[in-house]
Amino acid sequence: MCGIVGYVGQKECATMLLDGLRRLEYRGYDSAGLAVHDGKEVKVVRAVGKLANLATALAQTPLKGSTGIGHTRWATHGRPTEVNAHPHVAGSIALVHNGIIENHVALRRQIEERGQKVLSDTDTEIVAHLVNLHAKDGNDLETAVRLALREVHGTYAIAVISKDEPGKLVVSKTASPLVLGIGEDEMYAGSDVPALLPYTRKMIFLEDGEIATLTQKSFRITTLEGAPVERAPQHIDWSEMMAEKAGFKHFMLKEIHEQPRALEDTLRGRLDRENADVIAAEIGLANIDISKIDRIYLIACGTSHHSALAGRYYLEKLARIPTNVELASEFRNRDAVIGKGDLVVAVSQSGETLDTLMAVKEAKKRGATVLAIANVIGSAIPRISDGALYTHAGPEIGVASTKCFSTQLAALLLLSIYIGRRRNTLDPKRARELVEGLAKLPHQMKDVVAGTKQLVANVARRYGDARDVLFLGRGLSFPIALEGALKLKEISYVHAEGYAAGEMKHGPIALIDSAVPVVVIMPKDSNYDKTVGNLQEVKAREGRIIAIATEGDHEAEKLGDEAIMIPEVEEELTPFLTVLPLQLYAYYVADHKGTDVDQPRNLAKTVTVE
Ligand code: AGP
Repeated sequence: MCGIVGYVGQKECATMLLDGLRRLEYRGYDSAGLAVHDGKEVKVVRAVGKLANLATALAQTPLKGSTGIGHTRWATHGRPTEVNAHPHVAGSIALVHNGIIENHVALRRQIEERGQKVLSDTDTEIVAHLVNLHAKDGNDLETAVRLALREVHGTYAIAVISKDEPGKLVVSKTASPLVLGIGEDEMYAGSDVPALLPYTRKMIFLEDGEIATLTQKSFRITTLEGAPVERAPQHIDWSEMMAEKAGFKHFMLKEIHEQPRALEDTLRGRLDRENADVIAAEIGLANIDISKIDRIYLIACGTSHHSALAGRYYLEKLARIPTNVELASEFRNRDAVIGKGDLVVAVSQSGETLDTLMAVKEAKKRGATVLAIANVIGSAIPRISDGALYTHAGPEIGVASTKCFSTQLAALLLLSIYIGRRRNTLDPKRARELVEGLAKLPHQMKDVVAGTKQLVANVARRYGDARDVLFLGRGLSFPIALEGALKLKEISYVHAEGYAAGEMKHGPIALIDSAVPVVVIMPKDSNYDKTVGNLQEVKAREGRIIAIATEGDHEAEKLGDEAIMIPEVEEELTPFLTVLPLQLYAYYVADHKGTDVDQPRNLAKTVTVE
């Protein structure tokens, strides 16, 4: 998820572009840059790291001109370096992009065969070359962009200017957001409302497959096919703070709602639906010979440890590889028996968690191979690993991890399907069920969030004052029980415990009484009958039950004091849906209690201390 801005008018635009990027910094901050047309040339200034570095560079090399574009990057292809920073220039064209071009490898071959030199590792530069080639064929900027986008598969929001056409800005989008700002004798474009709010409240949200050509006094919207589009500007009355959260009260709530999109982006280009398989190029095993792997260690902390617990289920069931799950802080000090033939999979949203980083170093020292599953390209853990499987959740601002958790589940499931198909431990029929199930999941997640959030908010009000809460689950629902408990603990400060449902009778059942809500995660899966038995044990002791169950499960509705229903899916996919009401429950309890949901006390988003 990156941020893009554009301006065309009669004012000097570099300051506005930089300010617009500052308001989009929550969308990514690996590197940034501006391109401005000074009437004769397009000049570019880029800098790695936070926007402050770009501001420093601009102070040394001011950009003059009243047509320009800007970009703040969240790396998806190519590490955060200056050469990979946007804007990308090809011939007369300067371009910025937010999204993922799926067919960038094939397109790169095409343009190199036409003698173009590609300087960066990014998918974006390829689009700049395509536009430039069409412009060199005598097309105006809008036509060149239109023709180039017809060759592109994937997601994009782009802004483009040309040395040969001063005073013109062309933008287009498919799947990634793009907003036009309609000013007085000036026009704006941006990834999101916050970038434009200080300059205009008259905005037009572009739809997928639309192109807009902006000049100082005009804007024109057409479809990719060239048909004119008429759309009146809206008046946006959000405050600037509300705008950064897209109208949500907290980043955490926004990120809970972003999960379908984050999952789509993480799966994009990785599912081979024709062959019921996973595409090798995209899962980081290029340098790892899986035929030599006898055992896997999943190493992580916190929420990432919970996704790793689900990952063990996937790897052992689908790939039949013995798999251990380790808390990074414990693994480091255990003098583990690990070495060649062992694959360590380090799961970390930030890629910077010190406990996980040190555990990886320890494992490497003992001869293990390491694959990182991370959300931040070029972060410390992937940098020292033999391969990296990136989630594409975009920046996660809320300290409590939500969308990164579900994208980690997806990464671990993709890995398990990939290895299972190559070890012939996963038959094609079962693989097809899982691949097709994954493809449908983003839509189902969206429905579950929309369909349960009001009920969950009501349940949170009824049970939110409880001082102790138990979360129970079996099999794949056990890590979800742990995750639900962690979410509640870390943002509402309520004591909560996740427990294997089968363990209740070995002690914790002594805790049960009418003051202790018990959340039972009980989708219709291979553990269902036993979980119903555990639920009855709780019921018999006056425990109040909040059941997370499968639509149509009348037993759960009868036994539970509350029942929150999810659609029936393949067993391996239930965690993606059962976790959603638990994230919402923690959120609404915390919001009801008035705690600092996005930055809970004592916590940091990335724990870089031991
Ligand atoms: C999750 O809600 C917590 N904020 C925390 O447990 C987090 O998952 C843990 O610190 C690991 O972080 P990482 O995924 O960046 O390594």
